Amino acid sequence: MPKKDLAYLLAKKQAHEPIVMLTCYDYLTARIQDEAGIDSIFVGDSVGTNVLGYTSETEVTMDDMLHHLRAVRRGVQNAYLLVDLPAGSYETPALALKNARRFMEVGADGVKLEGGIERVEVVQTLTAAGIQVCGHIGYTPQTLGPKGRVQGRSLEQGKALLRAALALEQAGIGLLVLELVSEPISRLITRQLSIPTIGIGSGRFCDGQVLVVTDILGLAPGERKMLKRYDHLHERYMDAFTRYKDEVRQRLFPGAENAFNKIADEDLAHLEQWVEQGMPAGE
Ligand code: KIV
Repeated sequence: MPKKDLAYLLAKKQAHEPIVMLTCYDYLTARIQDEAGIDSIFVGDSVGTNVLGYTSETEVTMDDMLHHLRAVRRGVQNAYLLVDLPAGSYETPALALKNARRFMEVGADGVKLEGGIERVEVVQTLTAAGIQVCGHIGYTPQTLGPKGRVQGRSLEQGKALLRAALALEQAGIGLLVLELVSEPISRLITRQLSIPTIGIGSGRFCDGQVLVVTDILGLAPGERKMLKRYDHLHERYMDAFTRYKDEVRQRLFPGAENAFNKIADEDLAHLEQWVEQGMPAGE
């Protein structure tokens, strides 16, 4: 299987084949996602709330992202590897370039950043330096806070989103994430752009979909309209942890089959005798 790149993702849009993106924060999960054929593996700043225990994406640092990007990079062979520039890391074109380069040196294929027309200069600077950029409009957690609200519900919001999408495309982005954008508006944007749109909570008509890995696995309790749980790991983890705890307490684990008993009988007898004698020195 050849390495997936932006041209591959674009060809999928053109062929009307859905692009599959999923967030990822660690090596083992990256290996499994890659083997499962996920098109694009994305180290999102959602690592903050889902893995690091932060209360908001705004607490995530460059060092946090680099640490998780390195781990995921080691597990990915084929997928397009995208990484989020965290809040505060791309306030000026020069800062954005410096930080994006740090991600590229670690092996990212492209970087994602949030925002609309106000980010055009940053996008132009990055793309001029040969760095592939994914935009992100609609609900943008780095600026709008952790409580997501649907965007694009009025004529004005719809126009603003369309203008932002086109401006970012002209500035050179290769992909655009639409988060919590009403379905009619995400459909319009998808039709207007020649680059792929990737939706999260933005309905059926984007060129691809992205979800947060811990959400689809059901690691965190609770339901949300925009997502689907493909497993219930919260319950399964709880069951495994409880059984482990019970078995250790009841001395059921480890069993004889888990122990290493490879020492000759005569050596063991000698050792026991030596211990009984108070472990005399020199013997
Ligand atoms: O960090 C994240 O999980 C995101 C989503 C849009 C997937 O940015």
